Amino acid sequence: MTTPAIPPTAREVRAAAPASAASGAPAGLTVAEVPTPVPGPGQVLVRNQYFHVYAALRTLLAGSVPGAPYPGLNPGDPLFGPAVGEVVAAPPDSPLGPGQLVLHPLGWREYAAVDAAACEPADGLPDPVAYLASGATGYAALTQVAPVRAGDTVFVAGGAGAVGSLTGQIARLLGAGRVIGSTGSAAKADWMTAELGYDAVVVRGAGPQTGPLAEQLAQAAPDGLDVVADLVGGEDLQAAVATARAGARFALIGALSGQLGGGAGVTSAIQLDTFQLIVKRLTLTGYSGGHDPALVREWRERFGGWLRSGQIRFPHRLIPGITAAPQALDDVVAGHHHGAVIIAL
Ligand SMILES: NC(=O)c1ccc[n+]([C@@H]2O[C@H](COP(=O)([O-])OP(=O)(O)OC[C@H]3O[C@@H](n4cnc5c(N)ncnc54)[C@H](OP(=O)(O)O)[C@@H]3O)[C@@H](O)[C@H]2O)c1
Repeated sequence: MTTPAIPPTAREVRAAAPASAASGAPAGLTVAEVPTPVPGPGQVLVRNQYFHVYAALRTLLAGSVPGAPYPGLNPGDPLFGPAVGEVVAAPPDSPLGPGQLVLHPLGWREYAAVDAAACEPADGLPDPVAYLASGATGYAALTQVAPVRAGDTVFVAGGAGAVGSLTGQIARLLGAGRVIGSTGSAAKADWMTAELGYDAVVVRGAGPQTGPLAEQLAQAAPDGLDVVADLVGGEDLQAAVATARAGARFALIGALSGQLGGGAGVTSAIQLDTFQLIVKRLTLTGYSGGHDPALVREWRERFGGWLRSGQIRFPHRLIPGITAAPQALDDVVAGHHHGAVIIAL
């Protein structure tokens, strides 16, 4: 196969306007044609093949959260995030060479000039797209932050999305006895039990027939919860605290209800009954990215093994073309997708 010539211009997705607080408002992105980047010292030029469309961009477009690991995005800024691509130009002394597939942080563009040190070879998993799986987050949560023990009942709040669809499966593989998820629709709940192995799924806003989330969760976990991987906050976290057993461990990973729930997307305030935290001696621990390299290596090794043996699936939807990316982000925010959403270039 011959490598296509490097074109003089290429497209990238940019923030166009500050995110609106209105629920369901478009993220306000544009696709711009720009000169193809020229790699500087220590950099390689990568032609992107896939990049991840992720919900946290809603917060970065709204100005970010103080202390967050990633900066906010201003109008005109190109978006960024995990991507897999092929190195098409590298200096002679680079550890990377043309033709090599790499994972790197400069998605949302057709070509990226990336520090070689920020690239990780993407050749160990059965499919390069699997490098865009958000599983390291759930794996860190359930092995280091709120470790799962054999037989535990685990609740994954937000169990259908990019992180959650893997976290539920990871909980099972780590020995959980019962795995419960939450989602926003009955159709997704059916998919989660049929395809992801959840024992039960509770549905936010399900209406009078099914009842409030807290009641559904109490029914789904009659003996209580041992471990909670929380990607939502809001009523999911309130219900989890009410349903927790004494000594339960919570990993607070995400705040989708605050990020996507119609507010500005940068706060996620809720009321918790602190008597419950006290009398049940609950541990709530925040987890914020910056995976340590040893953990990522361990995750990749186990993920690769689980994929090869068919014990885990990577639920994702491939959407072709960079021009589809702005709508894809709006659809992720609106909850129209299952699993991870990935643009294929
Ligand atoms: N701490 C870390 O290191 C780390 C790393 C990665 C991600 N995160 C965080 O983890 C969370 C999940 O990330 P993700 O990429 O996997 O997102 P995601 O779940 O793919 O986000 C989209 C989903 O959010 C749900 N959603 C939409 N509106 C909602 C609302 N008002 N309330 C509750 N849920 C709503 C919908 O799922 P349903 O229809 O199923 O409800 C939608 O499909 C995010 O908060 C993200 O910032 C944290």
